[in-house]
Amino acid sequence: MNVQNGRIRLLDVGSCFNPFLKFDEFLTVGIDIVPAVEICHISQQQRRPNPPTYCVSCVRPVELCPSSVYKCDFLNLQLQPPLQLEREAVDTFLLQLRSPIDALPAELFHVVVFSLLLSYFPSPYQRWICCKKAHELLALHGLLLIITPDSSHQNRHAPMMASWRIAVETLGFKRYKYVKFSHMHLLAFRKVSLKTSSDLVSRNYPEMMYIPQDFNGVEEEECWDTPPAPPRSCLEDEQLACGFLELPDAPYDSDSGESQSGSTHCQEREDPILLQS
Ligand SMILES: C[S@@+](CC[C@H](N)C(=O)[O-])C[C@H]1O[C@@H](n2cnc3c(N)ncnc32)[C@H](O)[C@@H]1O
Repeated sequence: MNVQNGRIRLLDVGSCFNPFLKFDEFLTVGIDIVPAVEICHISQQQRRPNPPTYCVSCVRPVELCPSSVYKCDFLNLQLQPPLQLEREAVDTFLLQLRSPIDALPAELFHVVVFSLLLSYFPSPYQRWICCKKAHELLALHGLLLIITPDSSHQNRHAPMMASWRIAVETLGFKRYKYVKFSHMHLLAFRKVSLKTSSDLVSRNYPEMMYIPQDFNGVEEEECWDTPPAPPRSCLEDEQLACGFLELPDAPYDSDSGESQSGSTHCQEREDPILLQS
């Protein structure tokens, strides 16, 4: 993967409002089944009540505006053979995408981001399909970045994260980093193999991408007759809200079960072999 003389091609799936667009180092493609921002240049106020057909900034038709979040159902995205083009030509191809996107060439991106996406899906199989598509869309050594919410204490869902790791790695990834923040898990996987074995479904790997909500919103270890928690006070509400604003706490490793206090916030496990690639 050579990005030395160009921008990092980043696919943000479930992008909603294209938050990566402002970073110049990325050539960002934001896709969403229901884009919240079709035209980044104009305010919501300008768009209502009649969304314009033309972007007020670049004066192109909405579907041709380069700042759009493209409409795309990632679960049904078709994969095409990889482009056999020079880097500049691939960048040009990305800049000329049109909404809606129904198909993309394989091995197109250096980074695929699933920010708060996977828990959006009601079934483990859909989550696994997303990871499989990410694998196909990434160039060799590209990164899949997963951010998934979890406000429970650090090791409560460690087995779940270990299970995700196995399911994702069998697709042809290797975990590169893992960090637990107060309210989310952050995972980075590197694509280490072009191939994915074909009998994964029969081996139950998709089921390994479960979340607590798959069990009817009841945690596995909780009893049905547990009395409901009392309503939160205003003070507790405030404390909870503050929690979302806090700086991330010490990273935590799901496999060892150890907190890594003392290290920097985003530093976690790095695989020296992968770092060389
Ligand atoms: C919780 S939002 C995450 C927004 C943003 N990534 C963030 O981190 O704030 C999940 C997004 O996934 C989108 N989404 C759901 N199913 C999708 C699908 N099949 N294909 C593409 N996007 C999808 C939703 O429309 C929604 O905008």
